[in-house]
Amino acid sequence: MTAEPDLDALFAAARAAQQRAYAPYSRFKVGAAILADDSAIYPGCNVENAAYPVGACAEAGAISAMIAGGAHTIRAILVLGDGAELVTPCGACRQRIREFATPETPILIAGPEGVRARFSLAELLPASFGPANLPK
Ligand code: THU
Repeated sequence: MTAEPDLDALFAAARAAQQRAYAPYSRFKVGAAILADDSAIYPGCNVENAAYPVGACAEAGAISAMIAGGAHTIRAILVLGDGAELVTPCGACRQRIREFATPETPILIAGPEGVRARFSLAELLPASFGPANLPK
């Protein structure tokens, strides 16, 4: 059985990371937080670059922190951004999450006031390509 993630802790970690985001070009700060298989929470924020395409999303930063921290599986990920719209992960980040998650892994989308929506990875990235698709 998978325990429900501690949403308050994930939200707090994502909010702290969002405040540290480096987004001088878009001015759109994003925070992310992963609850990993070691029960630790790994935060990330977007880090933009004067060479615009080199910028990195918050989700990518959280995944790097998780791998550097020695964990391997995303139990849940929360993404936090401002504005009225849902800040769902971009296509590339859906695939990045896919590498370390299952079709059931929850992806929680939050605004400043709290969690707004909850998706499974399969809902955001159906019929996806993953490690098992590669020949042994
Ligand atoms: N961004 C993220 O970090 N995560 C998302 O899920 C959506 C977009 C960032 C990329 C860029 O720095 C800024 O938000 C505007 O697109």
